Amino acid sequence: MSRRISVAIDGPAGAGKSSISKVVAKKLGYLYIDTGAMYRGITWALLETGVSIDDAEAVSQALPHIQLELQATESGLVVLVNGRDVSQEIRTQYVTSHVSQVAAQKAVRTKLVEMQRDMASAGGVILDGRDIGSVVLPNAELKIYLTASVETRGHRRWLELKDSENISLEEVCRTVAERDMMDMNRKESPLVCVDDAVVIETDHLSIEETVQTLIDLIRKAELGGCHG
Ligand code: CDP
Repeated sequence: MSRRISVAIDGPAGAGKSSISKVVAKKLGYLYIDTGAMYRGITWALLETGVSIDDAEAVSQALPHIQLELQATESGLVVLVNGRDVSQEIRTQYVTSHVSQVAAQKAVRTKLVEMQRDMASAGGVILDGRDIGSVVLPNAELKIYLTASVETRGHRRWLELKDSENISLEEVCRTVAERDMMDMNRKESPLVCVDDAVVIETDHLSIEETVQTLIDLIRKAELGGCHG
């Protein structure tokens, strides 16, 4: 007998967390929650309405007016902000270059962590982000820290962006490294590799290999819960 568990996946920018989590969740019939998409959605909304993202008070006042919704559809995750589909917009370099500033704010994290815990409460979930194992789901049955060198991660991100944005590989690598710095050094819920996480380095792993590694770990953790 196995049970459906909660899986926390953390790691730096472009480590492949969302690509991997999406496939694994589909194969196992788990719910996938892309918490980065939520921080991106809030960032898009603040930029769109001209709120100064460094002004904690202004951000805090704007938050109750931002209604965020995630919908899992056949064609992928849809992010709605006040009813508008912003799934494409939140992936632009413009939003990416501001999201870490927004994610560093306490009021933003409080709102999103509450939503994330709520969505995860039934179990059978994979959440990916920066603070899942440390803050959002500290009791998750399985914690993964997915990482790779900044060169590998920058290159993967550049391949995703190069057809839609005029940006060089060097520039993408630089912004990935800058975002890591901000996410790891902020006061509120910084990105950390918790002691009980399984570390997976993906530099030399294909998507298929990483997916399989994760599925094996989840299957084992599902069984483990029955004995202990
Ligand atoms: O996909 P990528 O690794 O580029 O980033 P993401 O998961 O979409 O997250 C975007 C940004 O949101 C991160 O750089 C963090 O600043 C923030 N974030 C966070 O602070 N906490 C999370 N649980 C998820 C994302």
